[in-house]
Amino acid sequence: MLRSLLVAGLAALAAAQDYSSDHNTTAITGTWSSGTQRVFPGPGFANPAQETFAYPNTTGVGYAFSDDGWYEIARFRYVANGSHPECIIGTIIWAHGNYNLLDNGSLILTPIGDGYQQVQTPCNKDNTNFIQNYNDTELYSMWRIFTDVTFGPKLHLWQEDGTPVAPLFRLSDQPNMLPQQKLRNNQTTTAGEEREEGAAEEACGNGELEVLEVVEHWTFLDT
Ligand SMILES: *[C@@H]1O[C@H](CO)[C@@H](O)[C@H](O)[C@H]1NC(C)=O
Ligand SMILES: *[C@@H]1O[C@H](CO)[C@@H](O)[C@H](O)[C@H]1NC(C)=O
Ligand SMILES: *[C@@H]1O[C@H](CO)[C@@H](O)[C@H](O)[C@H]1NC(C)=O
Ligand SMILES: *[C@@H]1O[C@H](CO)[C@@H](O)[C@H](O)[C@H]1NC(C)=O
Ligand SMILES: *[C@@H]1O[C@H](CO)[C@@H](O)[C@H](O)[C@H]1NC(C)=O
Ligand SMILES: *[C@@H]1O[C@H](CO)[C@@H](O)[C@H](O)[C@H]1NC(C)=O
Repeated sequence: MLRSLLVAGLAALAAAQDYSSDHNTTAITGTWSSGTQRVFPGPGFANPAQETFAYPNTTGVGYAFSDDGWYEIARFRYVANGSHPECIIGTIIWAHGNYNLLDNGSLILTPIGDGYQQVQTPCNKDNTNFIQNYNDTELYSMWRIFTDVTFGPKLHLWQEDGTPVAPLFRLSDQPNMLPQQKLRNNQTTTAGEEREEGAAEEACGNGELEVLEVVEHWTFLDT
């Protein structure tokens, strides 16, 4: 396994000489995932028709890019609250659409309107767990692909404000993604609006229990 990764890495390095652009040592097409590489797009992450998620065991972010201009993102994270550690906010996001590699070196992801997110806000008494549409266009000011001697191709993205995204390792040179079409009707309320408690619970099944588990796991790992 390690050996084949190394060989793949060396091959990518050698091939890099063939590319005039300093952007990439290999194509951006494929499936990429941060950290422990458990968060990545495709059927194992989201079921848009049901508005559900299969919660990964750890937080992270994943991207898939096809060679015909389609992308899919998977993102699962917690935002800490310094003064109220129990008020940690969890967000899990799925979206897909079209991507463009711009001439100025930026990367733009334009969603098609069926993306959604589940937000867990334990300290918001009115609404601790809700689903809402996620249809943000995401601009990454810059992207680079390096070759890691151990892990092979590694994609770096910088957000619009220059903040780097955690390095993304290539799981596959094939994009792991759901069908490239609208997969969810746009019925969910948008940010700020309330959704009936019962509907949210139905949509996430026993997700709440699982999330508590993951919070523990995540807290443990990070301390
Ligand atoms: C490298 O990036 C450029 C765009 O900056 C693209 O045109 C080219 O096809 C890419 N090469 C590979 C191998 O992906
Ligand atoms: C996640 O954790 C569960 C329970 O600990 C385990 O059964 C499962 O295999 C894990 N999944 C992954 C992808 O690691
Ligand atoms: C989602 O965003 C895209 C890009 O801005 C836009 O074209 C589309 O109309 C939006 N869809 C919805 C349902 O808001
Ligand atoms: C932290 O949690 C408290 C209590 O819910 C809240 O009042 C405060 O706005 C939160 N701070 C941040 C930065 O989210
Ligand atoms: C590249 O062009 C896009 C579209 O005009 C713009 O939004 C983005 O900020 C530009 N990137 C940089 C690094 O200037
Ligand atoms: C779809 O969602 C958008 C917000 O993302 C909202 O403005 C629009 O009214 C919704 N359309 C329908 C038909 O529900």
